[in-house]
Amino acid sequence: MTDAPWWRDAVCYQVYVRSFADADGDGLGDLAGVRSRLPYLAGLGVDAVWLTPFYRSPQRDHGYDVADHRDVDGLFGTLADFDAMLGTAHELGLRVIIDIVPNHTSDDHAWFQEALAAGPGSAARDRYLFRNGRGRGGSLPPNNWRSVFGGPAWTRLPEGSDREWYLHLFDSTQPDLNWRNGEVVGEFESILRFWLDRGVDGFRIDVAHGLFKAAGLPDGTSRGLVTAFWNQPEVHHVYRRWHRVLAEYDGDRMAIAEAWAPDAEAMAQYIRRDELQQAFNFRWLEAAWSAAAFRRVIEETFAAVDPVGASPTWVLSNHDVVREVTRYGGGRQGLERSKAATLTMLAMPGSAYLYQGTELGLPQVDVPEEARQDPTWLRGGGTGRDGCRIPLPWSGSEPPYGFGPGAGVKTWLPLPASWAELSVAAQETDPASTLSFLRRALASRRRVLAGLGQQVRLPRGSPGVLVIEREPGFTCVLNCGSRSHRLGAYGDLLIASAHEDQVAGGVLPPDTAAWFTRPSAVPANLLSARLGRRTVNAHEKGGGPTDVFSTDL
Ligand code: BGC
Repeated sequence: MTDAPWWRDAVCYQVYVRSFADADGDGLGDLAGVRSRLPYLAGLGVDAVWLTPFYRSPQRDHGYDVADHRDVDGLFGTLADFDAMLGTAHELGLRVIIDIVPNHTSDDHAWFQEALAAGPGSAARDRYLFRNGRGRGGSLPPNNWRSVFGGPAWTRLPEGSDREWYLHLFDSTQPDLNWRNGEVVGEFESILRFWLDRGVDGFRIDVAHGLFKAAGLPDGTSRGLVTAFWNQPEVHHVYRRWHRVLAEYDGDRMAIAEAWAPDAEAMAQYIRRDELQQAFNFRWLEAAWSAAAFRRVIEETFAAVDPVGASPTWVLSNHDVVREVTRYGGGRQGLERSKAATLTMLAMPGSAYLYQGTELGLPQVDVPEEARQDPTWLRGGGTGRDGCRIPLPWSGSEPPYGFGPGAGVKTWLPLPASWAELSVAAQETDPASTLSFLRRALASRRRVLAGLGQQVRLPRGSPGVLVIEREPGFTCVLNCGSRSHRLGAYGDLLIASAHEDQVAGGVLPPDTAAWFTRPSAVPANLLSARLGRRTVNAHEKGGGPTDVFSTDL
């Protein structure tokens, strides 16, 4: 337990840089802003921060279109600002994970510009996926793939050129790289080293499941399409190499895959012992508000990660999905459910990822059409992600709520006029606020975590209620039902997501979770449970079979 790598049980806070804090007053967050607010994050009680891309970029996909992987965009500061931010984070005891975007570059990247100039068949074009079109005069795309952001996944070079097509699984300004090209492989290892040498603690790998496309770029049927460009077996060779690069450095450097896998087992492929350290477990985020659904996710997660010797991660939101308060129905109920789901995931072994604003209970915002910025919206590929990317409200009674130094600054996305009570300053001194709750939850987690085993038991109990137990004597109970639940004798109440008085009196209202400790009530047979899934007899009254999962590394 004590020699576990730092990331195994880390709580990592996702900083969406352009919406976190603005130091220079241009309405856009920056690295100096991040640095100035690091004490806030240390005070919140997280262990690490993950920063979304701040590299040089034309910002067509808000930084996920990288033009230079080794430089900071002027919008966000300079390399010196990055170093200063990293130094301050480390002084505060916070680890720093940065985003790396290997599936594609910006069309402003020197390689893509070189490819355009060099022409068909050149070495420069082979770094990307250029192809001739089909049909008369090559006027049809090379295959039927669709962009994740809407529209075709191919764009044809303009009239007056050679008229090849290039592949882009995202925006047309984000050409996909050819990972069967050795130069691409070498370049990304060099980029990893560039940032590892500067001292970063890890990487979040964007679209980690997309780097390889099926050989020959075949057409897909609507079902097969997905398998033609996601989760190809070759991608794992890349991560075995990256594992070795990370291992050259001290300090348990790590990488986490953003790999949208079809199931937990496919997710676990990315975290085999010689590959990446973590993969986002999006199944928690995708689960409906139901004890049975959460239970299934927990069971499937452990059943998938145990055999590969990995530990799980838990994630409820990020900059690509509708905020959890709104997903769970919005308003007071949405907030209570999101606090309960957060407390439940924090009870689990493994690492939890929190998206900025979760600690404030921010809802999704319905951004006015004229203010929309997201390429998925602009390309007609969805409802757009702007609503979860609104700048954070820090203080004050009107927008932009202390986001930057100036009162009248126009932020890149507008803040709602109704957010005064959600600001950090407004919540900081209120013991009943979401912020105070999360601080207490993280402090409690730190207090009890060191002594807890890496196994969970899921005793079957009342419908609508999820019970999670960890040794020695730790219990988390979540009520997803519509009626109050009479609690068993779980020991002392550590924290509840709401209604603490009622919970202390033995009643768990709907949409509430609570943690309890009972230091010496663990049956001896559990102490010998080792890696893998097994079933033992439940020890609590009325219980059915109990599933035990472990994640010892
Ligand atoms: C990121 C998105 C981004 C896309 C393309 C993702 O999955 O999280 O924000 O638009 O990759 O880079």
